[in-house]
Amino acid sequence: MAINILEKRALMGAVAFVMLSLALTAYATWGLGINVASCIPLGTKPFEEASVVKHDGNIYEVHYVTRMWAFEPNVLRVPTGSTLDIYAMSKDVTHGLEIAGTNVNLMVVPGAVASGRVRFNKPGIYSMVCHEFCGKGHENMNARIEVVDGLNDFAVEGLPSSPGMKLMDSKGCLACHSIDGSAGVGPTFKGAWGSTVKMTDGSTRKLDEGFFSDMVQHPTVYSVDGFAPVMPEIQLSADEMKQMEDYLKELKK
Ligand code: CUA
Repeated sequence: MAINILEKRALMGAVAFVMLSLALTAYATWGLGINVASCIPLGTKPFEEASVVKHDGNIYEVHYVTRMWAFEPNVLRVPTGSTLDIYAMSKDVTHGLEIAGTNVNLMVVPGAVASGRVRFNKPGIYSMVCHEFCGKGHENMNARIEVVDGLNDFAVEGLPSSPGMKLMDSKGCLACHSIDGSAGVGPTFKGAWGSTVKMTDGSTRKLDEGFFSDMVQHPTVYSVDGFAPVMPEIQLSADEMKQMEDYLKELKK
């Protein structure tokens, strides 16, 4: 049976459409440098900790850890012309990782590593935001990348470097207490050490070794004004207590 002229046209149109789509995808990938985010199965240790590694050719491999409600690292400073290979994983729920003004827009699902590549040709401050609703502190979950002319090396802030921070992370403290000043279920730890705290009963206390130990051991007895008394008791050895105190002192600046 002969093919109807209309059928022939429809077929040719369909083929042309497919070719055009392929051509546009190819153009987006190679011409514009937009790449589709891909996921790598989790379980490889290097992806579970935040880190920045410099490679040849101004390429930086950045492993972001997302959590309620922060990005690690929080601030990354790189020279203009740097290329970032970004890998991101989540410690808790699904977060987003979007770098304003770039093609990086990742969904960070627990159990997988999301990745993307971006090149910074222009100096400036690029803000990074979480675009998945991830709870109470979602609005405050942000970080930034500073691209600076004439910089020789990179700099990074907000990496969980100290043992105290790792400990606080593993004990769950950081789920409620932010380390960057943002709001949370409990008071932020940033600048908290040595400050005067108002209690629910109207009294005030200075955050020092004594008060810290009271808070950790009897969190419902000593509740801080403006916050719900929901903190659980935490068992800490004297050594662990000291590590956390050291970390709080670090956050004072
Ligand atoms: Cu993380 Cu919203």
